[in-house]
Amino acid sequence: VPVPPASGDLSGLRILVTAGGTREPIDPVRYIGNRSSGKQGVAVALAAADRGAKVVLLSANIDESVLAEARRREGIRIVPVSTTAELERAAIAAATGAEVIVMAAAVADYRVAEVSEAKIRKEDGGAPTISLVENPDILVGLVDERRPGQVIVGFAAETVESEEELLERGRRKLARKGVDLLAVNAVGWGEGFETEENALVVLDGDGQVAARAAGSKRETAERLLDTVLQDLHAI
Ligand code: CTP
Ligand code: CA
Repeated sequence: VPVPPASGDLSGLRILVTAGGTREPIDPVRYIGNRSSGKQGVAVALAAADRGAKVVLLSANIDESVLAEARRREGIRIVPVSTTAELERAAIAAATGAEVIVMAAAVADYRVAEVSEAKIRKEDGGAPTISLVENPDILVGLVDERRPGQVIVGFAAETVESEEELLERGRRKLARKGVDLLAVNAVGWGEGFETEENALVVLDGDGQVAARAAGSKRETAERLLDTVLQDLHAI
């Protein structure tokens, strides 16, 4: 299916997109990470830029092959980050200059309490116990500091047994985060992550289904941005 031509309907808008997955170091050579490829977030950045927006893309450990097209877009500024603390700092710095925030990054919920200065060795004494501490919720922080009229979009990838459970979990998360829109999708082993296709349900601030989108990550990104634009106009 061809990507619809750029319409310029987002021209003049500044959009902050976070994408990829944060990593938390264990020692100098190891980390705790997740399977997010960054493809959905990059697709949002590309779609927004092609519709005239100025995009800041906070890229958490995204493979260069996934970023290649975004690197060539004039309207996209890519800022690399790795840990959750780095993403948080960059997001707070960029948020004040954005009318729209799309938080597509998969953020590590926990980080390692004490990162080892040296590589952990088997000689040190068998399987180590790694203590974790909770990371701050970046999205909740951004919602707390929201500027007037700013539209904030969260993402939620859920492992669920049914569509009903997906919506129920999505609504609970939406209420917990206080976002304007939440894009929820079902994931499993090899579903949603690292794939070319996606299926999103977009919930509005009241928990109502504002849009459903299935197809390539670019197509779902376009539909998500349509919903964001409706939300901006409604304010
Ligand atoms: N998020 C965030 N900071 C965190 C964790 C999550 O900003 N420390 C954001 C994600 O970028 C995403 C949204 O919150 O946009 C939902 O992430 P998710 O992991 O689904 O939510 P959690 O609150 O971490 O709940 P769960 O226990 O289901 O992981
Ligand atoms: Ca989480």
